[in-house]
Amino acid sequence: MRLFVSRDAGAVAVGADEVAQALEQAARKRGLAIEIVRPGSRGLYWLEPMVEAATPKGRIAFGPVTPAEALSVLDAMAADGPHLLRLGVADEIPWLKRQTRLTFARCGVIDPRSVEDYRAHDGYRGLERALRLTSDEILADVTASGLRGRGGAGFPTGIKWKTVAQTSADRKYIVCNADEGDSGTFADRMIMEGDPFVVIEGMTIAGITVGATRGYIYVRSEYPHAVTAMNAAIAAAKRAGYLGAKIGGSSHSFDLEVRVGAGAYVCGEETSLLESLEGRRGIVRAKPPLPAHQGLFGRPTVINNVLSFAAIPFILAGGARAYADFGMGRSRGTMPIQLAGNIRHGGLFETAFGITLGELIDDVGGGTFTGREVRAVQVGGPLGAYFPRALFDTPFDYEAFAARDGLIGHGGIVVFDDSVDMSKQARFAMEFCAVESCGKCTPCRIGSTRGVETIDKIRRGERVAENIAVVEDLCNTMKFGSLCALGGFTPYPVSSALKHFREDFGPAPTKLQAAE
Ligand code: NAI
Ligand code: SF4
Repeated sequence: MRLFVSRDAGAVAVGADEVAQALEQAARKRGLAIEIVRPGSRGLYWLEPMVEAATPKGRIAFGPVTPAEALSVLDAMAADGPHLLRLGVADEIPWLKRQTRLTFARCGVIDPRSVEDYRAHDGYRGLERALRLTSDEILADVTASGLRGRGGAGFPTGIKWKTVAQTSADRKYIVCNADEGDSGTFADRMIMEGDPFVVIEGMTIAGITVGATRGYIYVRSEYPHAVTAMNAAIAAAKRAGYLGAKIGGSSHSFDLEVRVGAGAYVCGEETSLLESLEGRRGIVRAKPPLPAHQGLFGRPTVINNVLSFAAIPFILAGGARAYADFGMGRSRGTMPIQLAGNIRHGGLFETAFGITLGELIDDVGGGTFTGREVRAVQVGGPLGAYFPRALFDTPFDYEAFAARDGLIGHGGIVVFDDSVDMSKQARFAMEFCAVESCGKCTPCRIGSTRGVETIDKIRRGERVAENIAVVEDLCNTMKFGSLCALGGFTPYPVSSALKHFREDFGPAPTKLQAAE
């Protein structure tokens, strides 16, 4: 019998390794021959550790399984019988079935160490097609797909690649930003652990398109499982002839290596990341020049987020039209959304742009884990705005969120119930900025510290209205005067908390006080 137990860090954290061991012991006890495959996670984290058994009906899932239940689960699998933890055919679980998994199609399904398994699930079809196309034809496809940078800024990927392709230089580079630092986000980690070849394939396609022969994956140090998975996949891709000289039997060469960051949030900012890759402290560089013109070691560089590269193989294999058919407005394709915080059904939910925030929280997420009322939702990481229930009709779309002073960022959603103190959350945003600031520019370096002090005064009830006005002024200065998104976006959580949850900042001024 072939069983599947996730090796994803999230599953391992809740006991997947122990469950795998317990299944092996149970099989010995029953005299059953089993093979345990360790894929990534399907992303239904409240059901991890989830165990699946391959059957003629498809993979039958059970979860969440504890080591103590391994024997009874194995018996139920062998007999195809009932069990309290039986979830049915994995692909038919409604939470999974209602998704549109283009980027995450293989995550949780294949063995992330096996190129053969990747190929058996349509892997490398995108690269094989790309090798038959000219650079201009690939660029046309990427542009027509409407893919925008999934790191958060949403810049059109086709335009970025074209800029690098058209810039002449003796060397060019491809850099994958895997310094996923936003609170509540884990999609980069999940795909690197569960389907690393799709990232490698996307980067390789970028390389042959723009004429780069070397790539780097910059992974945060907090992701040791992802580092192991990427290194193993790179070695396997080299052995299979998909990396190195003459990739896929073509005249193109492309090679990759993993570099591990040292744990600074600001190294997720592209220029700071490049500084760090070059061996220096991660400090933001002023733009221009853009990395597309002068990036790593001063050479033209494509720097994209993990999810942007991971979307490329589908676009090349399935066609730009097939990708662009999903979505709304200028947000085309799908977004791997990460549901986290105080939520009943947390996990990875990939869907076409356009689903509303309310559907995601109430319907998909099932409300809060605590069962209390949802009060606030932060979308887009620690620098994203807090939305109250009144804004739950906002569709998941770059422009729709921007129109309401928010951002979708990297697709992370963190849910808070009615016990949250929003003045504390606003303080946290300023404190986060103060801790993570690279120190290069004044609005961020000094502003964040003054922000913490001023919010503390408000929280102590000192001259509340006056100090709120100071914070608002400070937010304006940081928003328009900071060099990068860290200082520039910190005002989003602070201003949205003030705007939508004013009551948490002390009594509002009376009409008379306001008029004074
Ligand atoms: P940006 O708007 O300056 O640039 C976006 C991208 O487009 C960059 O790669 C830039 O080099 C490129 N670009 C701009 N004009 C170009 C042109 N004409 N040709 C070629 N390339 C061009 O945004 P930035 O500062 O790089 O990123 C800010 C975003 O990062 C925010 O929206 C935020 O949501 C997100 N973010 C994501 C985090 C994560 O963990 N994924 C953490 C913190 C912020
Ligand atoms: Fe550095 Fe902050 Fe300025 Fe960005 S905004 S360059 S992190 S000091």
